[in-house]
Amino acid sequence: MNSILRLKNKKPAYFTQKGAAYCGDSRELLQELPDSSVNLVISSPPFALQRKKEYGNKEQNEYIDWLAEFATLVYRKLRDDGSFVLDLGGSYEKGVPVRSLYNYRVPIRLCDDIGFFLAEDFYWYNPSKLPSPIEWVNKRKIRTKDSVNTVWWFSKTEWPKADVTKVLAPYSERMKKLLDNPDKYYKPKVRPSGHDIGKAFSKDNGGSIPSNLLQIPNSESNSQYLNGCKVLSVKQHPARFPVKLPEFFIRFLTDPGDIVVDIFAGSNTTGQVAEIEERRWLAFEEQVEYLAASAFRFLTKDNNPEEMQEIYNNICSGELVDLTQYQSQMSLNLLSFDSQ
Ligand SMILES: C[S@@+](CC[C@H](N)C(=O)[O-])C[C@H]1O[C@@H](n2cnc3c(N)ncnc32)[C@H](O)[C@@H]1O
Repeated sequence: MNSILRLKNKKPAYFTQKGAAYCGDSRELLQELPDSSVNLVISSPPFALQRKKEYGNKEQNEYIDWLAEFATLVYRKLRDDGSFVLDLGGSYEKGVPVRSLYNYRVPIRLCDDIGFFLAEDFYWYNPSKLPSPIEWVNKRKIRTKDSVNTVWWFSKTEWPKADVTKVLAPYSERMKKLLDNPDKYYKPKVRPSGHDIGKAFSKDNGGSIPSNLLQIPNSESNSQYLNGCKVLSVKQHPARFPVKLPEFFIRFLTDPGDIVVDIFAGSNTTGQVAEIEERRWLAFEEQVEYLAASAFRFLTKDNNPEEMQEIYNNICSGELVDLTQYQSQMSLNLLSFDSQ
């Protein structure tokens, strides 16, 4: 069923065929959701970096308390089989080449005090990440490039909904050869690990089980979003995650029609992926300019600059924008949470 989600008492900045984006503090917006209603919350909060970013970073010592406020609400709003995926970049302590432990303190706090379970720890390897911090890596050459973010997959219970067959990785060339001609390539052997590499390994399952090391370059350069920002001379969001990151978890942990929420939406990468994957979605972001530019994700290449400028201005001035008219036509059914 196609339905647009709406919060009962809040006006969205814009809505699409599958979801709605709200401007405001997520701690307030989350309260508007019914308890036990959300399948997946996936988000990348402002990191506890020492270098202050324009969208505001909390000092590391306050950071865990601050994040725990959101996590407590998320816990209440998740269904029992729901998941909370948090992407956290690492950082250094101020002035010394020593890593902060903040991103490891987060799962301890969320599990010990709020009740979450750590379903699995993921590591997002971004090969296109630039060396930093410059002082330790480039100048003094005493630390390596930090190219891995921790991505914690929390669940409300021990048994979150998950199906790894929806996120199979492409087979290696070697495996493809084996599948094409098992008799030629199959050599019975027991590995040192004790795994018996039997002929069952030559069954084509459509792909291989992915690992918890996700290799995804963050090097988007030609998207509808970037194009819109360029055409209107609007600043791009400085800390977007690549579409492949939410795509992996949305496919893995939800089904079409399920509800996905991003509580630190930024340029609404999550909403765009959820829309494409036919999940219903809500995006919460406190800076209206970021939300206004995120609307470009739901437009087509045919939208002219005047139309885009109007959409951007209307969102910035608090006027509700209906983006469904710019998307391909489909029958729409407007649902609010209380009428489901
Ligand atoms: C790391 S960015 C998220 C980027 C996003 N994943 C993307 O791909 O564009 C974090 C965002 O959280 C927003 N934010 C910070 N505190 C917030 C709050 N209390 N409520 C809603 N959004 C908040 C910031 O304005 C910032 O845009």
